[in-house]
Amino acid sequence: MSPSDKTVESEYENVNEMVQPKVVFRNVSKTFKKKNEDLCVLQDVDLDVAPGEFVCLLGPSGCGKSTLLNIAGGFEQTDTGSITIDGQEITEPSDRRVFVFQEYGIFPWASVWDNVCLGLRKLPKEEQKRVAQETIDLVGLKGFEKAYPMELSGGMKQRVEVARALAVKPDVIFMDEPFGALDSLTRLTMRSELIRIWKQEKPTILFVTHDVDESIQLADRVVVLTERPGRIARVVDVDLPHPRDLASPEYARIKGELYELLGVRDWG
Ligand SMILES: Nc1ncnc2c1ncn2[C@@H]1O[C@H](COP(=O)(O)OP(=O)(O)OP(=O)(O)O)[C@@H](O)[C@H]1O
Ligand SMILES: [Mg+2]
Repeated sequence: MSPSDKTVESEYENVNEMVQPKVVFRNVSKTFKKKNEDLCVLQDVDLDVAPGEFVCLLGPSGCGKSTLLNIAGGFEQTDTGSITIDGQEITEPSDRRVFVFQEYGIFPWASVWDNVCLGLRKLPKEEQKRVAQETIDLVGLKGFEKAYPMELSGGMKQRVEVARALAVKPDVIFMDEPFGALDSLTRLTMRSELIRIWKQEKPTILFVTHDVDESIQLADRVVVLTERPGRIARVVDVDLPHPRDLASPEYARIKGELYELLGVRDWG
């Protein structure tokens, strides 16, 4: 049995414990056709994500993490295999699935309030107001409703993004290195804020990062991808209560395991 077979087998063991997975990746492979040579980016990715689970995808640059999210979001097609959400195969984008990116996706010409309301246009006016205020309060931006993005710090802009994503009560939130552009202190704050919000709302989150500490601080499970073509090297459980004790032996053990999987020896 190859190591990747083992990964698949242990994934199926997890599936048996789940009632009904929210997101299912089955044999997902992707090759980008290029003029001179084809670029195989993803190979046989198999993964089940439970409802309300926080899963981090960790892997080296260029291994296909963003591509995997783009396929799950319906922006790219798989060559083989499929991705389903609640049993429905993903074939196109939907406003039930939202993205939060590193570059600020909020509109600079709209206030915090209007940015959050943009996704709520289908709701009756009163309901819009209630949801927008609730979500703005939830991300800690109460009092900044009328502010424009240029008046906000980087962390606050990311809060607006998170609010905008949460407001539409999506099935799944895809986060692609959302805190990558923030300074290290703000990044730490945003991680704990995200966990606070996630615990309260319990959305299913797929979070891409190449930061080992970030993945251990956030995830229920860390899915480690190999270098391109990205395959699942291992799925590592992070069975530690929040807030996570960064000095605990278990934290250090998981960190060692993840660095080893990424082929980094001298990380300590
Ligand atoms: N639309 C596309 N057409 C052609 N090649 C692409 C396309 N999108 C991505 N690629 C290539 O696929 C590979 C994987 O890209 P991807 O953006 O998924 O990597 P990543 O793991 O997210 O990397 P990073 O950590 O740097 O963001 C890269 O070599 C990239 O050049
Ligand atoms: Mg990427």
